[in-house]
Amino acid sequence: MKHLLKLMDLSTEDIFTILDLADQLKYERKHNIPHKHLEGKTLGMIFQKSSTRTRVSFETGMFQLGGHALFLSGKDMQIGRGEPVQDTARVLSRYVDGIMIRTFAQQEVEDLAKFGSVPVINGLTDFCHPCQVLADLMTIREHFGGLKGLKMCFIGDGNNMANSLIVGGLKTGMNVSVATPDAYRPDPSVLEFAKPFGSQFTLVNDPFEAVQGADVVITDTWASMGQEAEKKARMEAFQGYQVNEKLMSEAAPGAMVQHCLPAYRGQEITEETFENHAGEIFEEAENRLHAQKAVMVKLMK
Ligand code: CP
Ligand code: NVA
Repeated sequence: MKHLLKLMDLSTEDIFTILDLADQLKYERKHNIPHKHLEGKTLGMIFQKSSTRTRVSFETGMFQLGGHALFLSGKDMQIGRGEPVQDTARVLSRYVDGIMIRTFAQQEVEDLAKFGSVPVINGLTDFCHPCQVLADLMTIREHFGGLKGLKMCFIGDGNNMANSLIVGGLKTGMNVSVATPDAYRPDPSVLEFAKPFGSQFTLVNDPFEAVQGADVVITDTWASMGQEAEKKARMEAFQGYQVNEKLMSEAAPGAMVQHCLPAYRGQEITEETFENHAGEIFEEAENRLHAQKAVMVKLMK
């Protein structure tokens, strides 16, 4: 494993190695056991979109590992004025030991890895959000003690989160059910990936059908970053796709809720359901730190 560009590139073993290391780093941090695996190393972090969790968890994570992280806003870099990603990749590779990038096109992340010579980590694209889903898998595994055979259900927009959850869930032996409107299905390449998994994966329109017996119910915003102009149409299209107590009553008893955040209460999730599961959701947010530290150690040590 040289990069983390998308979960499809990872083997099941890669994923579990990261989750195990993440658990260990979480334990060590809790018990004040230093783990400065990346002393003297620098991570460049390019952000072409906003971020709270990704930025802060990578930056503090790198510090805790003994390294240094540089926040590079796309707005301030020459890449924002049209310098090609091929050149940015070759230049940054001469200064830093790893690059994290949050941007729009997946191709930009793939090109950064292709033309650069240091590990590249995808901090979210329109296509996927692998760091978030590693944290989600970590949180679900902590809660249930394992992943295999659990049912994960995603409700709402077939977006970057849905794409990564499907791949991550299937690769780790979970059953994955998704409910989206027809016009907002997950990416065709992800549906193609899921095909050989047969009945381990289901995609339907009806949230109530998808949620039956689910152990984990997951949702995300109806309008992702970059889709601001579509907001009105999306609010209409996703009526009926809200995660609320009525929907949760069809999930398995004791089902968990995950949300990558930011959450829009009253839209994809009600205040009540969000607060009933706030412990699980903020644990998930915390686990971004541990999971990404594990990714950086695996790629950059
Ligand atoms: N979940 C997530 O990636 O949050 P940020 O957009 O705040 O980084
Ligand atoms: N789907 C959301 C996730 C934010 C972390 C977005 O891309 O904006």
